[in-house]
Amino acid sequence: MAKPVVFIPSKIPEEEKVLRFLEAFAEVDYRDEEEMLDEDVFYDGLSRASGLMIYSRNKIRGHVLDRAPLLKAVSNIAVGYDNLDLNELTRRGILATNTPDVLTETTADLAFSLVLASGRRIAEADAFVKSGGWDGWLPSLMLGKDVHGATLGIIGYGRIGSAIARRARGFNMDILYNNLVREEKDEQELGIRFVPVEELLQNSDYVLVQVPLTPQTEKMISEKQFGLMKKDAYFINASRGGVVDEAALIRALQEKQIAGAGLDVFEHEPIDKTHPFLSMPNVVTLPHIGSATWQTRAKMAMKAAENMAAILQGRRPVNLVNPDVWTVKDGTVQ
Ligand code: GLV
Repeated sequence: MAKPVVFIPSKIPEEEKVLRFLEAFAEVDYRDEEEMLDEDVFYDGLSRASGLMIYSRNKIRGHVLDRAPLLKAVSNIAVGYDNLDLNELTRRGILATNTPDVLTETTADLAFSLVLASGRRIAEADAFVKSGGWDGWLPSLMLGKDVHGATLGIIGYGRIGSAIARRARGFNMDILYNNLVREEKDEQELGIRFVPVEELLQNSDYVLVQVPLTPQTEKMISEKQFGLMKKDAYFINASRGGVVDEAALIRALQEKQIAGAGLDVFEHEPIDKTHPFLSMPNVVTLPHIGSATWQTRAKMAMKAAENMAAILQGRRPVNLVNPDVWTVKDGTVQ
């Protein structure tokens, strides 16, 4: 019997190891590409694929799935899966998976670095020195805001939120959090305090949002929330740009309602070359690199391959994100 085709339209790290693993049960159509494939090349690969392994830059909606008659599995090389239309996938009986856990610590490192970079003006200071503008030590040069001992408010306290709190603990920060559920273990071990969102916003020096993008969280941080923040507070986001009303954030920054922002994610990526953030020295802008280390990206690719293997071999994948399909199909991939 012919092996099912697994289509991987982008470059992955440690590809030899991942490809060898996949080739045991699949024919792999691997494109060693940094850039997105042209649409017709992508659709051509997709038309033969039983499995698709992608980063979140590939948006999988109904019109794309119309071009994938054989597709049984979409394995996202990311923890977030807002790039997938889960309703459409489920309706078509296609299983979808993500890669949690392996990127938790790496993403927390990056999110916490945005706290430090914002408060201590790291990116701005670096640009200043490199521009040749540093002519001497000045008493008020690049004065910023302390991180140690400050109050950090974490909105959305999942795996990554908890990993950020552990880092903040090491900086002796006072940690407030808000989440759908209480995390009593961390309350006891890390001394974090559960508070209503309004209280968190009013009292935090650094407000960090770490939630997945869903219809419920879309633009959950907007004008009202920025209005509640302290004037000298920073807003940090390394989750998804869509959870913030970006126009409201721009206004809050322009009107000096808050001190600045540290952002790894944006409503539209890449951001426009004329985006207002690009001319705001108090906004740290990163190109969505939360999980971007060699080690973690390699682990993510392997985990995605393992999820793919499970599905194409008829086993339930560990990181299934649309379990309804599994129930409907009674455990068999047809
Ligand atoms: C990256 O943004 C991810 O969701 O893994």
